Amino acid sequence: MRHERQVELLKRVAASGDHLKGLHAPRSTTNAAAAYADPARFDLERKLLFRPGPVFFGLSVDLLEPGSYRAMRVDGLPLVVVRQADGSLGAFVNACRHRGAPLVDPSSNGNGLKAFRCPYHAWTYELNGELRARPFAAGGFDDVSINCNLLRRPVAERYGLIFVRPEGDASIDVDQVLGGAQDDLSSFALNTYTHIESSTNEWNFNWKLFFDTFSESYHIRTLHSKTLAPTFNSDCVVFEPFGRNLLSVGLRANVHEEFAKPEDEWSLLPYGTIQYFLVPNGMVVYQVDHIETWIVEPLAVNRTRTTASVYSPTPPATEKSRNYFVKNLELLLHVTGVEDFALMQQVQQSLDAGALPEFVYGANEPPLIHFHEQVNRVLAGVEPSA
Ligand code: FES
Ligand SMILES: [Fe+2]
Repeated sequence: MRHERQVELLKRVAASGDHLKGLHAPRSTTNAAAAYADPARFDLERKLLFRPGPVFFGLSVDLLEPGSYRAMRVDGLPLVVVRQADGSLGAFVNACRHRGAPLVDPSSNGNGLKAFRCPYHAWTYELNGELRARPFAAGGFDDVSINCNLLRRPVAERYGLIFVRPEGDASIDVDQVLGGAQDDLSSFALNTYTHIESSTNEWNFNWKLFFDTFSESYHIRTLHSKTLAPTFNSDCVVFEPFGRNLLSVGLRANVHEEFAKPEDEWSLLPYGTIQYFLVPNGMVVYQVDHIETWIVEPLAVNRTRTTASVYSPTPPATEKSRNYFVKNLELLLHVTGVEDFALMQQVQQSLDAGALPEFVYGANEPPLIHFHEQVNRVLAGVEPSA
């Protein structure tokens, strides 16, 4: 993050007064509990947010070599992105044009793919989606007149980030998708990072509860009293909107020590958990000495799959240094899994049972207010998708 930006954000912290009150949103708001529990509402989110996307598909460094790929389902739609021989990316519907079998496991990633070979009857496709062969068919398809190449999807890659449009043919303008966050995100030089490890897990809660848990620091004092509270501030985060995306910076409790220095020596990086929410399904987090990403896949109104990945700034030279980053991921998964997500599953059960008419988002939780406002605007048709 550019130094001026770090100073700019720190100035807001310095001027925010007791309990960082100056970082608050102008007012609190409420949101209907149905936003998390109503299947009809969930269908609308899939149709208006996830289908048109663009959805975050990971970092460029996840797909370094020709033949590296990532497959996932978005609203059930099987998609695969694969690095081409010329270094570009191809995105395809991960369904064989014969009778629909997935060409690679629909929730997987890997390397060294030379071609797509269907597991059903062995039709093969080039990595650019062109049908190469229909073996063992003894001419049984010679009279087929339709184009049997894989169905393409728009894909774009910039600033080390990959986006795919699951449905529709409009090309993707990454700058427009990021809504201004590109100035920050490009400064992190994401292309220089090394992927260490990922972990995929499923949870019984609505996908938005994932973002809610990361949105505010207010819960740290209580829910994370033993794990995070001794180190992190629990009053408010630094919030900034970027179109429908947002920046939420969680602060370390000792951030005020920085203000004893001259302003041109200020640095936010050692004190901040710098989180960029890429609505609807991604999060990129700068964490002092590494990067984390999250990809969120809604499976049902109350079921969500999450993939967390950790990246190191330089390739780890030894097993010990690699283990340091693996431990970071394990700690992240432990705290979120045992403390945040376990509670979110309880919340979801109550919402599913109709326990509450609405949620309340406080002025001290500004990212929550923005996130839900933006989602609600898309669903109301006020805001077209990017
Ligand atoms: S479904 Fe793929 S070859 Fe038949
Ligand atoms: Fe938390």
